[in-house]
Amino acid sequence: MVLKRSNNERRKLDHIDIALEKDDVEGPIPTLFNCVFIPHQAAPEVDLEDVSLRTRFLGRDLDAPLVILGMTGGAPGTEKINKALAQAAEEFRVAIGVGSQRAAVENASLRHTFSIVREVAKDVPVIANIGAAEVLKYGVRIIEKVVEMINADAVAIHLNLAQEAVQPEGTPKFKGIISAVADIARSVGVPVIIKEVGNGLSYEVVKKFYEVGIRYFDVGGAGGTNWVTVEKYRALKQGDIIKKMVAEHLIEWGIPTAASIIEARSVSNELVIIGSGGIRTALDALKALRLGADLVGMARPLLLAYKSGALKEYLASFIRALAVALMLSGAKSIAELRTKPVVITGILSEWIRARKLRVP
Ligand SMILES: Cc1cc2nc3c(=O)[nH]c(=O)nc-3n(C[C@H](O)[C@H](O)[C@H](O)COP(=O)(O)O)c2cc1C
Repeated sequence: MVLKRSNNERRKLDHIDIALEKDDVEGPIPTLFNCVFIPHQAAPEVDLEDVSLRTRFLGRDLDAPLVILGMTGGAPGTEKINKALAQAAEEFRVAIGVGSQRAAVENASLRHTFSIVREVAKDVPVIANIGAAEVLKYGVRIIEKVVEMINADAVAIHLNLAQEAVQPEGTPKFKGIISAVADIARSVGVPVIIKEVGNGLSYEVVKKFYEVGIRYFDVGGAGGTNWVTVEKYRALKQGDIIKKMVAEHLIEWGIPTAASIIEARSVSNELVIIGSGGIRTALDALKALRLGADLVGMARPLLLAYKSGALKEYLASFIRALAVALMLSGAKSIAELRTKPVVITGILSEWIRARKLRVP
């Protein structure tokens, strides 16, 4: 038991260290936002003061359509990171998720590394987090625990199959997850968000979950943090040469984020979609919102900004630049942005045609 606990903690710390220290943990697949153009409107008849980024999400009003995605908690030192992220979420009135709460379910002394988020981010949506592997192992009981632990407004169940397959200690067995999630959605009191972590959600997967009642999706597309690469570094460190080589074979696997947003939106207009995976600039966010995302999510850039002491500056500039970008598109709101022209070129255009998708 003690050994298991320290393994969980070590893994969480490895993830943070690798995400901060290695330059090649993003890509190599592009998000394909470079295929998307929104025509500039030089005389939009919209001033910056006319633009509102206000977004309703999980029953609360946000000042910007942004989610600070779940990253951490569950190991010494992570409480400090979660506290800083939660302070930023509360100050900028954006949503926030925590990292996988598995460690604190297995060891109650780690609960505070997660519950600090709700203590600080009192007035914005807070999202609990657990992996598909734990859902299959423990069922609805674990969902009740993670929601209660942080008094969450929703729970994200992450589907990280590629990561599990290359992780030295991973459990790449997700058979049965759709019916397990269906049971959970029926009995738990908050919305369930189906979340990928960097390989993207396809039309087929979103449709299956939609058919069992799920309405919230975080696409976690390819082009941002690459979990196969992160686990490659962990395998290398542990001397697991085969897993390291397996990772190298699979590094280019995934659905580019721009394509994944369109895949998900093609299933239904009813869905609430978080566009994520490689959102790095306000223009990435603008394009994600135009392609059908209701909000965007970011993880690694916020960790890097936290580390360099510039988290608030990063968020302030990101949100202001997004408002400017809406003005330059001629849109006063995100709903209006969806009515503005968009040009989709190259590989993304071919993807849409090959998959018979539709762009809103
Ligand atoms: C250090 C770190 C730890 C993460 N841990 C989790 C986790 O525990 N649960 C989860 O669902 N996603 C986790 N993620 C994935 C992110 O939530 C996100 O889906 C992914 O990194 C893609 O976003 P990005 O390209 O903006 O980083 C983590 C990301 C980072 C950078």
